[in-house]
Amino acid sequence: MIKQEMMECFEKVFGESEGVKGYFAPGRVNLIGEHTDYNGGHVFPCALTIGTYMLAKKRYDNKLRFYSMNFENLGMLQCTLDDFKPLEDKHWIAYPKGVMWTFEQKGYKVNSGFDILLYGNIPNGSGLSSSASVEVVTGYMLRDMLGYNDITNVDLALFGQYSENKYNGVNCGIMDQFAIAMGKADHAIFLDTNTLKYEYAPVKLEDARIVIACSNKKRGLGDSKYNERRSQCESALADIQKVKDIKNLGELSSEEFEAVKSSINDAVEATRAKHAVYENERTVKAVQLLMDNKVDEFGKLMNDSHTSLRYDYEVTGIELDTLVEEAWKCEGVIGSRMTGAGFGGCTVSIVKNENVDAFIENVGKAYKEKIGYAADFYVVDIGDGPKEF
Ligand code: GLA
Repeated sequence: MIKQEMMECFEKVFGESEGVKGYFAPGRVNLIGEHTDYNGGHVFPCALTIGTYMLAKKRYDNKLRFYSMNFENLGMLQCTLDDFKPLEDKHWIAYPKGVMWTFEQKGYKVNSGFDILLYGNIPNGSGLSSSASVEVVTGYMLRDMLGYNDITNVDLALFGQYSENKYNGVNCGIMDQFAIAMGKADHAIFLDTNTLKYEYAPVKLEDARIVIACSNKKRGLGDSKYNERRSQCESALADIQKVKDIKNLGELSSEEFEAVKSSINDAVEATRAKHAVYENERTVKAVQLLMDNKVDEFGKLMNDSHTSLRYDYEVTGIELDTLVEEAWKCEGVIGSRMTGAGFGGCTVSIVKNENVDAFIENVGKAYKEKIGYAADFYVVDIGDGPKEF
C-alpha cells in the first residue's frame, strides 16, 4: 500500500522509476536510561514499527534530487555531490546529505547521484527519532546501492551519529541510531554506550501496552539546550577527574558519586551529573527487574527517571510534566516518563490493556484543558531494524 503510493509519487516527481528500490528504518522509543548515552552509561531503547520509508534510484550524473511526502510544500530539492555544507544545510535534506558526506569522510565514495523519495509516519520533532531514522535508512540504502558490504549495522549507527554531530551540529550520543540500526521485534536493547556491548531483552508485556503520548510541543531551542546539558556533564566530569581516575560519569555508582560530588565546582553542574549517575544505576536495575518479570517495579523506576529528569536534569517542561502527572493518576498505569531528549516531544507509559482507552481519554482531556492544545496518543509495538520493503 505505502509502496504503491510512493511509487506513484516517485514517477510523478522524478519521472522514470526503473531501478528504484525501497528501504525502511524504524523510529525508536527509550524505555529508561535518558541522557546517559553521552556519559558512557546504559540505555534501554527499542525500535518501533513506525518509521521512515525511502525509495531511491541511482543516477548517472552527480545530481541529488530529494522529495518528501511529509513536506510537499517544499517541492523537489536539488543539489550535487559537490555541494555538501556541514552545519549550514537547511531543511530535512541535511539528514540524508549528512550521511552521504559521512560515507565520504569514512572512505566510502558516493560515486553516483540519486533520486530519493521519503515518507515517514513518525511524528516530526516528537522525540521518537525521526531524524536518526532518516540517517539510518540513508546509510542502509547507500550500503546496498553502492555495494559496501563490509559496513555493519553498528557502523550505520555510528555513521548516523557522526553525521548528526558533525553535519547537523547536534552532539547526540549513540542511543537513537543504535536502537534503530539494531532493532529487534518484541525486544528492547540493553546497551552499554561506553563499550557498545549490548543484549536483547525480551519485552513480554502480556497484559499491558506501551503507549506514547506526543505533547505536540516542538522542541524549538531543544538542540542548543541539549548541547548545553552535554557540556555541563563534561565540565562536572572534568572536576571529578581531579580527585578520581574515571573516564566518564557512567563508571560511578551513586555511592561513589556522593563521595566525590563536592569536587564539582558548580551547583547546577553537580545536579546534572547526579542525574547521569543515578539514571545509569536505575537503568541497570530496571532491566534486571524486567527480566525477573517484576514489571511493576520496573514502572516505578520509570517514574523515578521522570522525576530526576524534571528536577535534576531540568529537561521536561510543563507539557511533559502534565502528561506524566496525569498518567500517574490513571488506573492501570505501571509507569510513565518523558522519553528522548525532552524539552517537548513525547512520554512513554506502560498501561494495562483494559485501561488504555480510559488512559488516552483522561490524559488527553486534562492535557488539553491545561495546555490549550491536544496531545496525540500512539499504542505502539516494538519492531525490527532497517530492511528493504
Ligand atoms: C536524544 C539524543 C540521544 C540521547 C537522548 C537522551 O534523543 O539523540 O543520543 O542523548 O536524547 O537520552
